[in-house]
Amino acid sequence: KRILFATSEVYPLVKTGGLADVSASLPEALCRIGYDVHILLPGYPAAIAAARKAGSRRKVRFSIGQYDVSLWRTRLPGTAVTLWLVDCAPLFDRPGNPYQNDEGEDWWDNAYRFHLFAQVGVMMALGQAGLSWRPDIVHCNDWQSGLIPALLAHSHKRPGTVFTIHNLAYQGLFPSDTFRALGLPDSLWRLEELEFHDQLSFIKGGLVFSDRITTVSPGYAQEIQSPEFGYGLDGLLRHRQAQLSGILNGIDTRSWNPEEDEHLQFHYGKDHLKSKAQCQTRLQQELGLEVNGAPLLGFIGRLVGQKGLDWLLDVMPQLLERGCQFALLGSGETRYEEPLKRLAREWPDQVSLTLGYNEPLAHRITAGSDAFLMPSRFEPCGLNQMYSLRYGTIPIVHSVGGLKDTVFDLSETGIDRANGFSFHEANADSFLNAIERALDCLKNRKAWRRLQTNGMSGDYSWKQSARQYGELYQEILAQQQS
Ligand code: ADP
Ligand code: GLC
Repeated sequence: KRILFATSEVYPLVKTGGLADVSASLPEALCRIGYDVHILLPGYPAAIAAARKAGSRRKVRFSIGQYDVSLWRTRLPGTAVTLWLVDCAPLFDRPGNPYQNDEGEDWWDNAYRFHLFAQVGVMMALGQAGLSWRPDIVHCNDWQSGLIPALLAHSHKRPGTVFTIHNLAYQGLFPSDTFRALGLPDSLWRLEELEFHDQLSFIKGGLVFSDRITTVSPGYAQEIQSPEFGYGLDGLLRHRQAQLSGILNGIDTRSWNPEEDEHLQFHYGKDHLKSKAQCQTRLQQELGLEVNGAPLLGFIGRLVGQKGLDWLLDVMPQLLERGCQFALLGSGETRYEEPLKRLAREWPDQVSLTLGYNEPLAHRITAGSDAFLMPSRFEPCGLNQMYSLRYGTIPIVHSVGGLKDTVFDLSETGIDRANGFSFHEANADSFLNAIERALDCLKNRKAWRRLQTNGMSGDYSWKQSARQYGELYQEILAQQQS
């Protein structure tokens, strides 16, 4: 079966978060179990450059409204997966972040950019792009591809559609004028369709019109049906409950493998954990932290409200007084970057802060830390806790979404199954309490070691989840035929 996987990010070409990781590793896993998956991605400069470098070419050209568009056919670097790039220079040939300018403001024409992206997806879906390849299923991801199911809904002989929610907080909302300017069919301007409180909602295109909706963990699939996590879309999601399911993300177990991680100088595994300590010493030296046996706590992520940074900032001073060290990596909002910088200045031997995106350092922090902090206010799935589990680094997490589904607290599940620490109440005190329990446990080498091996024994591969997506595709196709 042929699957068109429409996404606005894919690792290693363009990445702002976990969507890019998933968009690279899920299609590969699906190919491995026999699906013919092609990725569709906007032609950002890095992507077009990679295609040129690989000797790939433009396959077809056409125009959409005022725009000349061409489609490049290439491969996702390092894989056998086919990648189609939507080359439209005025919309996508911009350096830096795919959604924002250097000042951190959304590109003014995002609606136009991702509308055009959707139009190309629709042409491919209906066999109107001049290609011989035509999908049986179009699998869309997040608001950037949300208009595809909406524009396909009333087409005769359309492929099946799946829409995956990676993060409901980002909805692609635009003023009603934009709806008109895009020239979308008037019939879509209804509360039951693309209108959301007098705004145009791209994500509703996916939520209302796709044959199946998925999200990236069973926990989050439940949560988004409640007002607390639903951002005003919980009613719609409850209405579509029968078509909504949660499928847990996997991770790329090749690049995230402590036995042969290219970014580490020392390697280790579940039965030979010794070199993890060397990874820690190395990391402390690299980051200018004192090498003194103090507990080292890691954090990697976008510095935004979702990630619970206010709670982290609240608990850090007390933990620093007690000698804990922090290895922090991320970039994001000034309201978090500034206070973190201040702490790093005040506690140079104990706090290392690296602002920016740094893949090799992310691997070394994951390997070198004792515990990994994820106090996320909400977390659709989260990948870092799974990286940590695989690296024998104990996750300390807020029990929400995918964190709840992957991290099992010592006091709740017992030593045979536990792999970390979690807290339920949404406040800094319960976060601190979970960290304190972890620090206590760290003194008990045997118990800690057991948590590490429990975590390292888990299966975080895509195998199981890819199979679940496969079943979903088959269900849709069976239903279309009946
Ligand atoms: P989200 O998609 O909400 O940002 P995830 O946990 O799903 O959260 O995925 C985040 C991904 O981005 C992980 O692979 C993480 O290692 C990576 N990442 C985030 N910030 C950085 C950074 N500053 N440097 C390197 N990797 C980062
Ligand atoms: C989103 C979520 C994150 C998830 C990722 C990949 O960015 O915030 O929890 O892991 O998508 O699905």
